[in-house]
Amino acid sequence: MTEIITIDGPSASGKTSVAQRVAQHLGIPYISSGLLYRAVALMCLLENVSAEEVETRLAKHRLELQPTPTQNLVFLDGREVSKALHSLEVDQIVSAVAVRPAIREYVNQVLRQIPPPFVVDGRDMGSAVFPQARYKFYLTASPEVRAQRRVPERGAAFDTVLTEIIRRDEADKRQSDPARDAIILDTSHLDLDGVVQRVLEHIHP
Ligand code: CDP
Repeated sequence: MTEIITIDGPSASGKTSVAQRVAQHLGIPYISSGLLYRAVALMCLLENVSAEEVETRLAKHRLELQPTPTQNLVFLDGREVSKALHSLEVDQIVSAVAVRPAIREYVNQVLRQIPPPFVVDGRDMGSAVFPQARYKFYLTASPEVRAQRRVPERGAAFDTVLTEIIRRDEADKRQSDPARDAIILDTSHLDLDGVVQRVLEHIHP
């Protein structure tokens, strides 16, 4: 397998878990592109600056993503920051960061330096960043199902998580259209194994 496989979808659609399992099955790395937007959001929090201001400081920072078989490690100026990327604070500002074209270009450059094969998840991997990918998937599920899945990861109340997911769906709209040639899978009534199986059915290594 020498290909790129893209798995896009909205918040908590299961794209990272699915990408991880599909990659494991195929024996290739997986990459979660959202971590890089989260790392830029973390820069804002650490330096107490707005998304607009952080954009002018990107060249001063070194951002790296290291795929390992079980997780992605993110290094900001040489310091491993992976564990700090999934807080509600980062959730709240990441869309304001991700909407800025210069920040998207910065993240895309980091992604395009990673040698294939890999499975990559995000919002626009199949539509904008890797249009040449051989296999493209787009996962959907209702906001309620997605909130239910995310509650244990955030340790917050269902209503708080649901409100945040609906807000982020709206804020991320611009970069979240499925690629025209993506296979769309509604995962509302499927568990993780079910989704992984559906994806693998389409892949012929
Ligand atoms: O799973 P969830 O969508 O919550 O998180 P994520 O995939 O880590 O993405 C976090 C945020 O990064 C999203 O809300 C988008 O604002 C942004 N993002 C993006 O704009 N484009 C991507 N390819 C990936 C993430």
